[in-house]
Amino acid sequence: TVAAAPILVAIDGPAGSGKSSVSRASAARLGFGILDTGAAYRALAWAARETGSDLDDEAAVLALLDSWRYSSTLIGDQRIGVLLHDGQSYRTYDVTAAIRDHAVSGQVSRVSKHPGVRERLNRMFREIVADSGLPGVVIEGRDITTVVAPDAPVRILMTASPEVRAQRRAGELEGLSHEQVLADIAARDAKDALVVDFMTPAPGVTLVDTSELDFEQSVQAVVDIVRAVQGAA
Ligand code: DC
Repeated sequence: TVAAAPILVAIDGPAGSGKSSVSRASAARLGFGILDTGAAYRALAWAARETGSDLDDEAAVLALLDSWRYSSTLIGDQRIGVLLHDGQSYRTYDVTAAIRDHAVSGQVSRVSKHPGVRERLNRMFREIVADSGLPGVVIEGRDITTVVAPDAPVRILMTASPEVRAQRRAGELEGLSHEQVLADIAARDAKDALVVDFMTPAPGVTLVDTSELDFEQSVQAVVDIVRAVQGAA
């Protein structure tokens, strides 16, 4: 017998909206898997740097993708792996920590801006979800509700005011002033927004503004939306 396709929960939003941590906690509570698509873009940028590829050259990044394999656990601790072919065999790298480095974060948009690269990764995301064998998968990113899974039964755009997002980020980035964090977020959003609009909810997408919600309330909001859809099915 063929396992039923997993229930998809698509969540988009900007950095600092709470999207990543809330998605992870919501998935755990629902017994679903979690696919962080930003981690895949980060892992690709890491590999491009590692192999000395020109991140701005779409053909070079597409060529790299031919010898690049991505692996991610969908439940539990979310280990991120990269496999690189050296001409003879694949070598495995655990990049879970490395992809969060500032050196990588600042370079990701150079690989994510290429339409052909996005197409390849989107195909990979759909395969990972379809092959997951899980009852459901929360998939989070910037263009999940609009491009990767526009037919998902649950589609959410998570936002928060720029001030709240800067405050949340400041907790992670010690030593930077509020103004610096605010400027940092604005710069990254502006770059990313050139590629996909993740600030306006597309038709049928539920807006969850977490500005006035604490973490637990944000998780509950997502879980409630999923349960309502499940109940209606
Ligand atoms: O969510 P994040 O900060 O880990 O994402 C890393 C980068 O990848 C971010 O600069 C935007 C990009 N990204 C994207 O273009 N499309 C996605 N679906 C997810 C992330």
